[in-house]
Amino acid sequence: MTSKADQDRVLIFDTTLRDGEQSPGATMSHDEKLEIAEMLDDMGVDIIEAGFPIASEGDFEAVSQIAERSKNAVICGLSRANFKDIDRCAEAVRKSARPRIHTFIGTSPLHRAIPNLNKDEMADLIHDTVSHARNLVDNVQWSPMDATRTEFDYLCRVIEIAIKAGATTINIPDTVGYTAPRESADLIARLIEAVPGADEVIFATHCHNDLGMATANALAAVDAGARQIECTINGLGERAGNTALEEVVMAMKVRNDLMPFQTGIDTTKIMAISRRVATVSGFQVQYNKAIVGKNAFAHESGIHQDGMLKNAETFEIMRPEDIGLSESSLPLGKHSGRAALRAKLEDMGYELGDNQLKDVFVRFKALADRKKEVFDEDIAALMRDSSSED
Ligand code: KIV
Ligand code: ZN
Repeated sequence: MTSKADQDRVLIFDTTLRDGEQSPGATMSHDEKLEIAEMLDDMGVDIIEAGFPIASEGDFEAVSQIAERSKNAVICGLSRANFKDIDRCAEAVRKSARPRIHTFIGTSPLHRAIPNLNKDEMADLIHDTVSHARNLVDNVQWSPMDATRTEFDYLCRVIEIAIKAGATTINIPDTVGYTAPRESADLIARLIEAVPGADEVIFATHCHNDLGMATANALAAVDAGARQIECTINGLGERAGNTALEEVVMAMKVRNDLMPFQTGIDTTKIMAISRRVATVSGFQVQYNKAIVGKNAFAHESGIHQDGMLKNAETFEIMRPEDIGLSESSLPLGKHSGRAALRAKLEDMGYELGDNQLKDVFVRFKALADRKKEVFDEDIAALMRDSSSED
């Protein structure tokens, strides 16, 4: 499917509104979903998985309105492997200029046992459901859920069936976050090599973060030939979450020498959507989260602050502006040095001679030993005390 010219282009498939919303407690309102979808569309996400239309009337309505409003992105809905789900999904995405149906079934031994289907029965069902979806829309994605724990031969067999039945994207989910990076790459490379017709479709990677390897696994899959990454803002998602959009996009941008792939994402919009998703989902971002954590561009220790004041590249591999932040922060605390205190004082409009700075620095350190972070108000109070004692 990818032309030669597109071979370095990696499609970004965002599933914040579907897999992300499946996080227990992350439910978003109808209006919030429309707002997030608009932000995703504006930032250049290629495919928005807007929901699971059969799941509820509310999900159907949200997918349907997102399909109607979105300007650029392909709008996708999820459906299980049955005609009723697929019909409902087709109805929900109908108003999109570029609709996609994503249908899936669990193919690993554990998952095959649930509907109690043998391998042949499941293969027939895959053929019938993918063909049905393809009769309704031109753009069909098929996923063998728990692909990474499915027997390789059977995986090849069902992928071939899905391709013959009309799937245009084959997604390889690591549903339980079990895979390691080398294995993730190996699986994609072997599938592309072994499955007849593989070069006619796009292979996607869909990773979960149960062992903290979702980003590494997704990037390894891309290295091996996958050209669509499924991800969510802030890594929101079931259990430990999904691959974080901001991480894979920034990794390919910052280390383009190692991963020479392009996305269509305007990275300067990352911070705004991260904050909005945190607010509407109620899932706050951990302080030290890569790219979007409060501390991702913050430096407290004296050596780091001094380096940052001289040349930001000493301790930063990307610029805060790249993700839409105005500047890095140098919070003051007990590890901070004189250079950062002087810079902060100058910023606040104080001009101090060396002796006065020495004195304020001693007081600052004593305060910082008692407080986790020293704020501007604390510095102002130190300065007031220091001038009243003169
Ligand atoms: O993790 C998973 O397997 C999924 C599928 C529905 C694609 O989210
Ligand atoms: Zn998932």
